[in-house]
Amino acid sequence: MNSELLEALIRDFSNTIATLQLYDPDHPRVDLLIPKVVEGLRPLMLGEALTLVIAKDLILVQGKPLAKTPHSQRLTTLCGRQGIGFVSFLPGFAAADLRLLLRIICGLESLESATTGSLYLRVGGIDTPVDESPCHEIDSFEDLSEEELKGLVDMYDAVGEKAQLDTRQLTAIIASFVAAFRREANPLFALVPLRMTDEYTFTHSVDVGILNIAQGMALGIEGQQLHDLGVAGMLHDVGKIFVDKEITTKPGKLTDAEWQAMRQHPSRGAQYLLNQEGIPRAAICSAYEHHMRYDLQGYPEAPEGWELNLASQMTMISDTFDALRTRRIYKDPWDFAKVSGHMLTLAGSQLNPDLTLNFLNTLARLGEGEGNYFSLDNLST
Ligand SMILES: [Fe+2]
Ligand SMILES: [Fe+2]
Repeated sequence: MNSELLEALIRDFSNTIATLQLYDPDHPRVDLLIPKVVEGLRPLMLGEALTLVIAKDLILVQGKPLAKTPHSQRLTTLCGRQGIGFVSFLPGFAAADLRLLLRIICGLESLESATTGSLYLRVGGIDTPVDESPCHEIDSFEDLSEEELKGLVDMYDAVGEKAQLDTRQLTAIIASFVAAFRREANPLFALVPLRMTDEYTFTHSVDVGILNIAQGMALGIEGQQLHDLGVAGMLHDVGKIFVDKEITTKPGKLTDAEWQAMRQHPSRGAQYLLNQEGIPRAAICSAYEHHMRYDLQGYPEAPEGWELNLASQMTMISDTFDALRTRRIYKDPWDFAKVSGHMLTLAGSQLNPDLTLNFLNTLARLGEGEGNYFSLDNLST
């Protein structure tokens, strides 16, 4: 993405808003500026959708924050005021759509009017479940053999039948993941393609294991500790096996009673793992703590002074990323740009901020080449 063109777009956009605020939406001065913004979008889109994610005072494009300027600040402030989390420009976006967007940003129209009033514009809060803009899915890992996958599925079936967990199989799989990382040098390729199995908990567990290994490797963790992190990710949701399947696979909102049952899965999982042989401590802690949140406001309720295990905190991050990436309830997977924008807003409350930055930088760097895109400066100011 050409950053000079992007910055010019943000500048023109911000100038148009400032003019509109000074005069009114139909003033001739606004008319003069609108074509400039529409023209500025064209070379950045090249027939594809372009999404700007607004995360606090940052604008992110394809997961990378743009430089902070007075123009970007004007935009993020106004968007924040209206609760706007992202703006997607779809191919076909024209002057009339921009007028509507300007009115939304200035609070003259609701966010929903983007959907009802334009075919080429999507505006939403960061949690808006409706998003029809095309999302590219994160690439899949083809090197994991069918046999290895089958071994994993068998292992999960065994847990489902409340049989003993075959930790040797788990160890072999983790070792093959670590070897694959060293070969591929890109953990994004390791995520199991969703088409390979319909079992969400299974694919999700494998993905969280892989993402834990990616995080650990970026922090220089090696050997047994790295292996344990992978196991922790793969077994974090094992307690869901003991929750009614109708609840764990329910596509809609859970009732209070169902939610109570769902909230049991961390303690049920940890209890199960405690009774198995050869399960690393990191995995037991992660099963128990992965919904506790960094600020300890989650569940199970944390006693006063509770200190979260490092593996649990890393698992929380991988878990959040994979859940947002797939978002099975709303059937609208988010791309990396939106997921990273949202995760930045969770850093410091739900998620450990340092580990979140390590995670996002690792994925961004491996996906896009060298460089750190997220820093504490971006978060704290
Ligand atoms: Fe969970
Ligand atoms: Fe999970």
